[in-house]
Amino acid sequence: MKFFIDTAKIEEIREAKMMGLVDGVTTNPSLVSQTGRTFEEVVRDIVAEVDGPISLEAVSTQAEEIIAEGRKLATYGKNVVIKCPLTVDGLKACRALTSEGIGVNVTLCFSPSQALLAAKANATYISPFIGRLDDISHHGMELVRQILTIYRNYQFKTQVLVASIRHPLHVVEAALLGADVATIPFAVIKRLVNHPLTDVGIERFLKDWQKVPG
Ligand code: G3P
Repeated sequence: MKFFIDTAKIEEIREAKMMGLVDGVTTNPSLVSQTGRTFEEVVRDIVAEVDGPISLEAVSTQAEEIIAEGRKLATYGKNVVIKCPLTVDGLKACRALTSEGIGVNVTLCFSPSQALLAAKANATYISPFIGRLDDISHHGMELVRQILTIYRNYQFKTQVLVASIRHPLHVVEAALLGADVATIPFAVIKRLVNHPLTDVGIERFLKDWQKVPG
C-alpha cells in the first residue's frame, strides 16, 4: 500500500519523507488554508520536495472551468494530479483531463455507485472519505471494501485512495483490504509509530546499559 501524506504543510512533508513515508501528497482547500500561506507558495514548495503524485484540488464547479483550472494546475509539475469533485461536472472534467494525459483524483466519494462512475470516467484515483462516513454512523471501511470488490470484478485501473483517515486502525484496515493508497495526516503517522511497550523497552535497555562495566 502506498503512503500519501494528507497535508499542505511542507515541514510535515519533509519529516515524513525522512522516514520514507511519502509516496505522494494530497491537499485540499482546507489543508492549504491551515498553512496561512498563499496557494502558489505552498505548491511550489511541495513540487520541489516530492517526486510522487501530488493532488491539488480544483475549486471550480462547472466542467469547463474545472478543466481549465486542471490544465493550469498541471503546469506546476508532471506529477500533479487534479482533484475533481464527484459531481456530474467533476466526472466530465475527469474524463476530459485524463484523455489529455493529466492524472485525476476524484474526491468526496461516499458511495459505491459514485466510485463506479469515477472508474468509468477513467479516474486515476478514487478517494472514499471514510472518516466523514464514520462521523455520521456509516461504516467508512465498508465502502472501501465494496469499491475494491467492484473494481476487481471488472479490472478497473482506477486506484483506491483511502482518504479522511482519522486514526491508526483506519490505516491497518485499509492495508488488510488491499487498498492501493492511504492518504494519512501527519498526526496519524506519528500515532502509527508509537507504542508504549517500545518506550518502556528503550527505557529498560538504557537503564541496564548503565550497569555494564567499563
Ligand atoms: O483526504 C481528505 C481529507 O483531507 C479529509 O479529511 O478529516 O477533513 O475528513 P477530513
